[in-house]
Amino acid sequence: MDKTFHITTFGCQMNEHDSEIMAGMLLERGYRQEKERKDANIEIINTCSVRENADKRFFGTLGQLKRRHEKDPDFVVCVCGCMMQQQRIIDQLKAKYPWVDLIFGTHNISRMPDLLENVLSRRDQEIEIWDGGREIVEGLPARRLFRSKAFVNITFGCNNFCTYCIVPYTRGRERSRAPEEILKEICGLAADGVKEVTLLGQNVNSYRGTYEDPATKDRAADRSADYDYCSFSHLIRLIAEIDGIERIRFMTSHPKDLSDELIRTFANTPKLCHNIHLPVQSGSDRILKRMNRHYDREKYLGLVEKLRRAVPDMTISTDIIVGFPGETEEDFEDTLDIVRRVRYDSAFTFLYSIRKGTPAAEYEDQIPEEVKHERFNRLVELVDQISAEKNAAYEGTVRQVLVEGRSKRSRGSLSGRTDGFKLVNFPADPKNLPEEVRGDARTVQEMEDRLTGHFVNVKITKGKTFSLEGQIVSAN
Ligand code: 5AD
Ligand code: SF4
Repeated sequence: MDKTFHITTFGCQMNEHDSEIMAGMLLERGYRQEKERKDANIEIINTCSVRENADKRFFGTLGQLKRRHEKDPDFVVCVCGCMMQQQRIIDQLKAKYPWVDLIFGTHNISRMPDLLENVLSRRDQEIEIWDGGREIVEGLPARRLFRSKAFVNITFGCNNFCTYCIVPYTRGRERSRAPEEILKEICGLAADGVKEVTLLGQNVNSYRGTYEDPATKDRAADRSADYDYCSFSHLIRLIAEIDGIERIRFMTSHPKDLSDELIRTFANTPKLCHNIHLPVQSGSDRILKRMNRHYDREKYLGLVEKLRRAVPDMTISTDIIVGFPGETEEDFEDTLDIVRRVRYDSAFTFLYSIRKGTPAAEYEDQIPEEVKHERFNRLVELVDQISAEKNAAYEGTVRQVLVEGRSKRSRGSLSGRTDGFKLVNFPADPKNLPEEVRGDARTVQEMEDRLTGHFVNVKITKGKTFSLEGQIVSAN
């Protein structure tokens, strides 16, 4: 049988990257990856459990797959990711979906190809779920989504236990990779043409690596902070030394761990992009306390001020939850107020969603759905208005953009990101481009091949709510 697979990924960038790793491992073993589910005979669903609608979409997808499975007994279905770390989901799968072939958790990714081989040879349901806190498995390959940019895990798990969040239960306690392992991986990526790395973790700025080699420590140390362990700022400085890596980003950071050292690192490490995702979750001190966030609005606003003082062109994005249990109209007004004060470049807004097993699920003062929705709409309107105003201010400026490939929005255009993570779309018909940019390309496809993975300078002609439009003025 020709072994072809397709992966459906729900959820965050950690999940996207886990899917890249699974694809990398399967490709190494001779499987082929398909772009469309219908073309593959192995379907892998990588699930998310952060909000309830992700659960619903997962079971919806399984419903669709069941029909195919009934018609085609050779069709293999594998499910993995955060949802599998919850016993009630496993019970449900065993009881109602016995035809699912393989079930594994977030800590067993490295075992996936072996588990799949077992399934293919025996065709029995295979289940392997480990608890959190296992040792980190190094050296797994990844099939990158982009040629020029890559995700790199630096921490796994989370110790914060925000009262609404399921992640500490599904991803386990926080563990940091050794700096040397991270540097080795990034050197390999640079050799493969990667220019931009995004360091991933639930809470990257609490990264605390143990040096495997004293020489790395000597290179990382600076006079302002000479620790025995590798701090997040040390790690960034070490990565910035790697030739070929031009941009460093990270996500996500927790305001309680945003140190002065990191703010200084932003100011004095040119490769560290001037962009931060800094989830605020709520603007109300009372709600922040109930969420167990360990900061108040004054502390948060102080951080934003320090960041902007150190790096005036810093772009800031955030996550906000609306309708957390006990949220009053006044609390919600505090959230609107903090959004007006910070003026975020963009914000991910979420309706609070009950997650069984978390403390907030037990709170009695849950907010009615219609109140949540009404607040949500008001918040989105404000967030979008500010994003559009911020983006309009880019009009007329020239920005350096790392080209990622064909634009998803407009045909005949390419897209890429600025240092501040703004998405920019720009036409790529070679006839209308300067000769220096066009070279001998004659079609948009040839322009895409020529520019993907390279920097270009783009003059911004329009700032929209979620993206910028522009014209290439020169190559870089
Ligand atoms: N309900 C709604 N949003 C949530 N998030 C995490 N848990 C929940 C929940 N139970 C949001 C937070 C987090 C983002 C990844 O998802 O804003 O930062
Ligand atoms: Fe969840 Fe809070 Fe950890 Fe983020 S910091 S993953 S919101 S518990």
